[in-house]
Amino acid sequence: MTPDPLFDELTQALDSRREATWLLDELREVPPDARRGRALALARRRIDGEPLQYVLGHWPFRTLDLLVDSRVLIPRPETEPLVDLALAAVLAGHDGVVCDLGCGSGAIALSVAVEARSRGAHLEVIATDVSSDALALAAHNAERNLAGPIVFLEGSWFDALRAGDQGALTVLCANPPYVAAAERPTLARELDFEPEIALVAPDGTDGTPGFGAIETIIGKAPTWLAPGGTLLVEHGAGHRSAVIACAERAGLVEVRDHDDLAGLPRILEARRRR
Ligand SMILES: C[S@@+](CC[C@H](N)C(=O)[O-])C[C@H]1O[C@@H](n2cnc3c(N)ncnc32)[C@H](O)[C@@H]1O
Repeated sequence: MTPDPLFDELTQALDSRREATWLLDELREVPPDARRGRALALARRRIDGEPLQYVLGHWPFRTLDLLVDSRVLIPRPETEPLVDLALAAVLAGHDGVVCDLGCGSGAIALSVAVEARSRGAHLEVIATDVSSDALALAAHNAERNLAGPIVFLEGSWFDALRAGDQGALTVLCANPPYVAAAERPTLARELDFEPEIALVAPDGTDGTPGFGAIETIIGKAPTWLAPGGTLLVEHGAGHRSAVIACAERAGLVEVRDHDDLAGLPRILEARRRR
C-alpha cells in the first residue's frame, strides 16, 4: 500500500490510528486538494474535546445510520437491549402502537419501526421530545433510514400525546435523562458537548438522585398503556430498587429489571394489568 502522509499526520495529531482512519474515511469523496484542510479542521474539533460522533456527524445504532449533532444525545450501546425488549413485545402481537418518549436522534423509535416493520409488523410509531431541535433531526433521520411513517409530537413527556393515545399504547419506551445535577460536574468533559436537557434530571420526590423524569414516566404510564401493554425505561445503574418500587406503586405487574451489555442494572420492564 502507498504510504499516506495525511494519515500519519492525523494519527500523530489525534494520537489514534483508529480515529485517523474514521476521519479519512469520512472524507473519501472530498477532492484531494481540499482533503488535508478539511481533515485538519475535523481533527482540531476532536483535539478540542468534541466527541468523535459529532465531528463525524453521524453514528451507527443497530441497523441505523443516525445523523448526530449538539441537538441530540449520542445514541449509546447501553440502549440497544431496550430495543430488543421492545421488539419482543411488539412481535408477540401483530400490530400496535409504540411510543418513544424523549426520542432524541430517534434511535429507539426508528429502530423499532425499521426492525419490526421488516418482520411484518403493522405499527403506529410515535416519537416525542420536548426539544423541537431534536425532533427536527429525528424526522430527518427517519427519512434517511427509510423508517416509514412516524408520528412526531412535541411536548413534555405525556403532554405531547393526543387524548386518543390514552389506554392505547402497546409498548411505551423511554430513555429519559437520569444524571443528578450534583453528579454533573464529575462527568467526563466530552459530555459538555451534549444537550444538558438530555442528561440531567431533577431528583425524585424521595430524594433519589436524578430520578425525577423516570418517576414521572413510570407513575403516569398506566394511564397511557393499553391493557397488557409493556413499559420499558432505561435508568441509571444506581436506580434498580427505585424503579422496581416505583413500578409496583404505580400498579404495574410482571416487573423486572434487566442488565445492559456491560452487566449493569439498566432497563425496567413492566406491564399494565390486562
Ligand atoms: C437521554 S436522551 C435519550 C435520547 C434517545 N431516546 C436515545 O436513547 O438516544 C433524553 C431525551 O429526552 C428529552 N427530554 C428531556 N426532558 C424532556 C421532557 N420533559 N419531555 C420530553 N422529552 C424530554 C431530551 O431532549 C432528550 O432527547
